[in-house]
Amino acid sequence: MVKPFQVVCFLVVIVGLSQGYSLRTAKCPIPNVCIWGCDSIRKAIHCSDSLLGPYSPELPSKRANIEDIWSADFSQNSISIIQNLSFYNHHYEVIKMRTLNYSTNVITTIEPEAFAGLDTYLHTLILDNNLLEFIPVIALQNLTKLHFLSLNNNRLSSIDFVCLNSLLHLHKLSVANNEIQDISPTCFYGTRLGKTEDSSLIFRGNKLRYLNACTFQGRKFQTLDYSNNSYMCMCEMAWLHNYLLTNVENAVGETEECFMAEGYLTNS
Ligand SMILES: *[C@@H]1O[C@H](CO)[C@@H](O)[C@H](O)[C@H]1NC(C)=O
Ligand SMILES: *[C@@H]1O[C@H](CO)[C@@H](O)[C@H](O)[C@H]1NC(C)=O
Ligand SMILES: *[C@@H]1O[C@H](CO)[C@@H](O)[C@H](O)[C@H]1NC(C)=O
Ligand SMILES: *[C@@H]1O[C@H](CO)[C@@H](O)[C@H](O)[C@H]1NC(C)=O
Repeated sequence: MVKPFQVVCFLVVIVGLSQGYSLRTAKCPIPNVCIWGCDSIRKAIHCSDSLLGPYSPELPSKRANIEDIWSADFSQNSISIIQNLSFYNHHYEVIKMRTLNYSTNVITTIEPEAFAGLDTYLHTLILDNNLLEFIPVIALQNLTKLHFLSLNNNRLSSIDFVCLNSLLHLHKLSVANNEIQDISPTCFYGTRLGKTEDSSLIFRGNKLRYLNACTFQGRKFQTLDYSNNSYMCMCEMAWLHNYLLTNVENAVGETEECFMAEGYLTNS
């Protein structure tokens, strides 16, 4: 009796740029080789450091039981484009992919339908260390199950509230080390940021000069890292000190004295 799980774990397809062959017996994970469907606990794609690019790899054929794959690691490659329908599968209705890791590539473009088919399960999307200049609004819009979105070390210049507002389960967002100058007060409306016990928001290392109290009103965070920005010393920031004391478990950042200046505004 061969169970589907075993079939997956023996179907090992190496996706190099040129090789078109497959191996049937391989211990996994093999470093520097892209393995589809081998993981002792969950079915996963291990494609870190596998010379992938410039396009995101296509999903393997029907035989690989891709509907059972829970995670894909495409980190440390040379992917620059995540193209339309990268995860769309014509044989299976639902792809159960939970976690996608594109950390450390050279991604500049995420096409509008890049993540089509991942709507039902995807909860973690890692896009750290890439070259994105803006949040891929349309590509993300249907990922309503997404919990955690990480965009550290890109070139983002603003947080686009239109995009985030459709992410109904988002409660962890990390946009450290970008060039963000402004977070719109309506930015997180619609998300679960600051509405769950384990909410976290990381925006250290950006160019924010001012934080609007309305952005944070009614939200409590487990972690809020607002450090290393370019805040102006002004009365309109005075709400922050009190907010951090009462609404944030783990606040990371400077509590400048001028945030507590006269003209104190309460956050109610
Ligand atoms: C994503 O990949 C990077 C680089 O390989 C790794 O350091 C990081 O832990 C991964 N993140 C997740 C959530 O798997
Ligand atoms: C990707 O999909 C969008 C929306 O359907 C379409 O406008 C665009 O032309 C497609 N891009 C490519 C390269 O096919
Ligand atoms: C999002 O879902 C709507 C409704 O099902 C669909 O029309 C649209 O094409 C989807 N967009 C993307 C980018 O998948
Ligand atoms: C602060 O952020 C900038 C990027 O905006 C980064 O280059 C710098 O290393 C950071 N400094 C610290 C102390 O983290």
